[in-house]
Amino acid sequence: MVKLRLPKNSAVTAGRLYKSESGSPNIRRFQVYRWNPDDGKNPRIDTYEVDLGTCGPMVLDALIKIKEEIDQTLTFRRSCREGVCGSCAMNIDGTNTLACTKSIEEVPGDVKIYPLPHTEVIKDLVPDLTHFYAQHASIQPWLHTVTPNPQNEWKQSHHDREKLDGLYECILCACCSTSCPSYWWNGDRYLGPAALLQAYRWLIDSRDESTGERLDNLEDPFRLYRCHTIMNCTQTCPKGLNPAKAIAKIKSMMVERRV
Ligand code: SF4
Ligand code: SF4
Ligand code: FES
Repeated sequence: MVKLRLPKNSAVTAGRLYKSESGSPNIRRFQVYRWNPDDGKNPRIDTYEVDLGTCGPMVLDALIKIKEEIDQTLTFRRSCREGVCGSCAMNIDGTNTLACTKSIEEVPGDVKIYPLPHTEVIKDLVPDLTHFYAQHASIQPWLHTVTPNPQNEWKQSHHDREKLDGLYECILCACCSTSCPSYWWNGDRYLGPAALLQAYRWLIDSRDESTGERLDNLEDPFRLYRCHTIMNCTQTCPKGLNPAKAIAKIKSMMVERRV
């Protein structure tokens, strides 16, 4: 049964205010979700005042500045700093996105930062994506072939290669899946938009020779058909991809092979 009320130890409390002493007129407040599994306390929102005059333009720049200069206990993931690795995905100003490509200027008022929604939190802004990655692995994201390997490489025409545009760019940041209501409620069995976009990427790869088996693997009331075309996934994708369209294409392939 769905629980509509948070357990007591999950209620978010008011945290600490870290005031800036720079005297700068260019101060912004960052309200950041904090939770430490080791201190036995409820999650809280800490507020950090950051002098934007000495900070880079992106939300990730502010988080790095906070960690380096104000509060070293703040925990978050990041690596590439240019929208390629997907590790800095979080909820900023109510939208799942990448902290490294989200400009502070785009956010009106205080900048509110939470972990990706409906994920188990490991600490602060770090979600546990173990299940998400396992679902990606379950669609077997590699080339399946039965014909003998060619001497050099599997060839593909330019036309067939172009069919992968809008799919191969996925960085597996999980912004889409964690914005999807169907995934929130049935994430244990529904694959979610990220894994399904990847599934479609391999289904339409002209070099792949197990289209039938791949479709069989998705033919399930939960794995594929829990998508109700709500479109949150497409609206939130920071790479501008369209997982909802990919899911619709898989459903069409299912119908086509029946007729
Ligand atoms: S489809 Fe977009 S939002 Fe979803 S995992 Fe890939 S890059 Fe992230
Ligand atoms: S279109 Fe499908 S996958 Fe995307 S948010 Fe809606 S239900 Fe989820
Ligand atoms: S740090 Fe790699 S995508 Fe943001």
